[in-house]
Amino acid sequence: MQKLSAILLVVLLCATSNGVLSFTDGILPNGQFEYGPKPSQMKGTRVIDPKAIPNWELTGFIEYIKSGQKQGDMLLVVPEGAYAVRLGEDASIKTKVKVTKGLFYSITFNVARTCAQEEKLNVSVSPNSEPNDWGILPMQTMYSSNGWDTYSWGFLAESNNIEIVIHNPSVEKDPACGPLVDSVALKALFPPRRTNANMLKNGDFEEGPFVLPKTDVGGVLIPPNIEDDHSPLPGWMIESLKAVKYLDAEHFAVPKGKRAVELIAGKESAIAQVVKTTPGKVYALSFVVGDANNACEGSMIVEAFASKNTLRVPYESKGKGGFKQAVLKFRAVTTRTRIRFLSTFYQMKTDGSLCGPIIDDVRMIGVRYAKHA
Ligand SMILES: *[C@@H]1O[C@H](CO)[C@@H](O)[C@H](O)[C@H]1NC(C)=O
Repeated sequence: MQKLSAILLVVLLCATSNGVLSFTDGILPNGQFEYGPKPSQMKGTRVIDPKAIPNWELTGFIEYIKSGQKQGDMLLVVPEGAYAVRLGEDASIKTKVKVTKGLFYSITFNVARTCAQEEKLNVSVSPNSEPNDWGILPMQTMYSSNGWDTYSWGFLAESNNIEIVIHNPSVEKDPACGPLVDSVALKALFPPRRTNANMLKNGDFEEGPFVLPKTDVGGVLIPPNIEDDHSPLPGWMIESLKAVKYLDAEHFAVPKGKRAVELIAGKESAIAQVVKTTPGKVYALSFVVGDANNACEGSMIVEAFASKNTLRVPYESKGKGGFKQAVLKFRAVTTRTRIRFLSTFYQMKTDGSLCGPIIDDVRMIGVRYAKHA
């Protein structure tokens, strides 16, 4: 025990004397807002000192919300820990993080909409050499049943010292409206390369956003209209109006490895990847279709598209887990082929939340035919 604490001390000393440890994985310092303002820094629930929440800098109308607090007839419940913040009209929260320049990162955080109106959040990271480069996460659709959804967003670190800003750009008619934010986490992404065994990048979805460990929300949303450079799911684009959900084996049935993707919004939630191909050559696109053991029941169909070919894979879900394999063979017609997956229908759980089939283990290889005599 003594030896262990000695080792720990040495590790700690090394860490602090360097002072340059960059963040790789986990909840950001005070990312759950458990350390909050002193009573003198608040007026009711509103925080009046912009530096009152350790590790964060506040702008605009920010409220510090304790779980169980009432707003009208609504009971505000915080999913992790006891506190969250609410971002009023044009309000933002900002934190500084040490990262590694040149690496890709993904931000994960919990959000709850508090009013029926259309709410959104603007996530941005500085420095950023590209002007007008930020992510608007729309929150019209609520994907969970308890009001809290977990969102993610990816970015390239352009410096070892970055600032992450979460901003509510909406004009709220009611100051008590505006999203609640909790559990802000970060993860360095190491995008896998294409190999001989798989021409697709991250086909097994093992590399992706940080999954909050203690969550009954379940899954992380990869928001819609996400291009490669902001995809928290390396290699993949979300080509649709609605999000897809990233699932982990700790909370769901995952066919292969530790992660999979749930197509939760029917034709409105599609994932895609563009692959270099040789025109005239035949390829095999194999993948697994199943359900996540999350009580999502019904007749499902996953549609896979490649070149001019489509494969519809039916799957009967009892909502208890299970999967099947499918292969789409196609002949490439261009030097770049778009691979795309969507679900023909969306399902709804008994609690009213959207759900659908999962896909996993997506592989693509060139097919060599035996020459006929
Ligand atoms: C989003 O945030 C960035 C950085 O704070 C800002 O420059 C941009 O104008 C915001 N976009 C919207 C639509 O509010």
